[in-house]
Amino acid sequence: MDSQENSNTSSSTEEYKIEMLPEDYPQYDLSFKLIFIGDSGVGKSCLTTKAVKNNFEEYYQATVGFEFLTFNMKVNDKVIKLQIWDTCGQEIYKSLISNFYRNSSLAILTYAIDNKESFNHVENWLNDLKSQANPDVRIFLVGNKADLEEDRKIPKEEGEKYKEDQHLDLFMETSAKTGHNARNVLVEAAKILYKDYLKFDENKQNEDNNKGQKKGQTLIKKEKKEKKGCCQ
Ligand code: GTP
Repeated sequence: MDSQENSNTSSSTEEYKIEMLPEDYPQYDLSFKLIFIGDSGVGKSCLTTKAVKNNFEEYYQATVGFEFLTFNMKVNDKVIKLQIWDTCGQEIYKSLISNFYRNSSLAILTYAIDNKESFNHVENWLNDLKSQANPDVRIFLVGNKADLEEDRKIPKEEGEKYKEDQHLDLFMETSAKTGHNARNVLVEAAKILYKDYLKFDENKQNEDNNKGQKKGQTLIKKEKKEKKGCCQ
């Protein structure tokens, strides 16, 4: 099976109108930075490439430093541009990569379901991220290589439990090889970031309204004072 499924996951119950747009789509309303992190070889590059370009490479070529991709989609009435940083999992690049944490709106922490060590290291990645990223950063946990069911070392429930215990925003198993959930990760990312934007926009509007009201009250008070001054 080679699938690029449409978004249909348990992360949110709201209905969104989603439309995929070409990589070179010329304009956008909102732009967000996403970072893929996790041990070397778990499939970060393959997963991003599968999600964005629908390609999969069997042979392993370690990422040097990081690679950059963009993904455009429309969520309801907004064109969203995701700037995706696919980072290298090798220890020697860790300090370089942590520079990218600060500007990221969402981190996708990846392990491979057939690699126990990569799951054990999730905690280290999470600690690094939390110590350096923006406190509002959204975090997804992704168990990749879900096609390797026979070699599975991490039960799905363990990933789900980890997500709950650590209050992460989403857990999903994916396969860059079959395409299972590959694009859904990005769709879910765009949906949650769009929701954050709506909340931010609503708070800002309330703040502006409050400021406006206060200003109005001050003006009324001033007017009353002036009236008092002239007639009494
Ligand atoms: P670094 O760049 O070193 O951090 O590695 P990475 O996490 O980017 O891993 P990469 O995407 O390069 O994949 C490593 C190997 O795993 C490659 O040989 C891929 O073909 C293979 N691989 C990646 N994703 C999957 C998957 O979903 N299923 C299977 N069976 N193999 C995969």
